[in-house]
Amino acid sequence: MIRAFLFDLDGVIVDTAKYHYMAWKRLSEELGLSFDIRDNEALKGVSRRRSFEIILGINGKEMSDEEIEACCQKKNDYYLEYIYQLKKEEILPGVTDFMKEASSLGYKIALGSASKNSRLILEKLEITPYFDEVIDGTKVSKAKPDPEVFLKGAEELGVKPEECIVFEDSLAGIMAARKGHMKSVGVANPEVEDCCDYFISGFSGADVRVLVKKVSGE
Ligand code: BG6
Ligand code: MG
Repeated sequence: MIRAFLFDLDGVIVDTAKYHYMAWKRLSEELGLSFDIRDNEALKGVSRRRSFEIILGINGKEMSDEEIEACCQKKNDYYLEYIYQLKKEEILPGVTDFMKEASSLGYKIALGSASKNSRLILEKLEITPYFDEVIDGTKVSKAKPDPEVFLKGAEELGVKPEECIVFEDSLAGIMAARKGHMKSVGVANPEVEDCCDYFISGFSGADVRVLVKKVSGE
């Protein structure tokens, strides 16, 4: 029986995925590295450091540990410039209504995000109270597609992995849900449509009961 929902943040609750891309693009241009929107798909859902290693890999470049850390710090400074401007209006349509309905029906809700900026973003958007638990990049050591972030979410909520539905916009996140033996709902990104249990283009008009039935057959 489904008892909990685990939400990714970037690209599922708010369209911050575009700000991650803009920040990486800015850094790449400064460093003379090639990086475009298609390359960006592989960065969705994965940790900051792993993202930069992917960009270096695309360019056949290597850097020392210290240089990588400095570049990641710079990218985050750029990202935060965008995040400080973030408005409540950028919450994706329908998602807060969906969470409210889910809570009122008794489902537990956790955030399962790789981002170390999750808390700041939830606060800025004034949606922290929607979550029973928040598992973010500061609490996990293994990045998606490892299921750690979602398994921890289930554990903190006191439910079994099989009782969870994960909402994700990234391939890494859908793989993490599958590895964790959870149901997966792909959100918004057509790139994940073929590998999730169920796909929605967004939360507008999504009905909790109908969705649970479609995903789990309950
Ligand atoms: C994920 C994003 O949610 O968080 C990735 O999809 C990002 O693009 C990752 O790299 C880590 O985020 P942050 O905010 O800790 O750099
Ligand atoms: Mg995401």
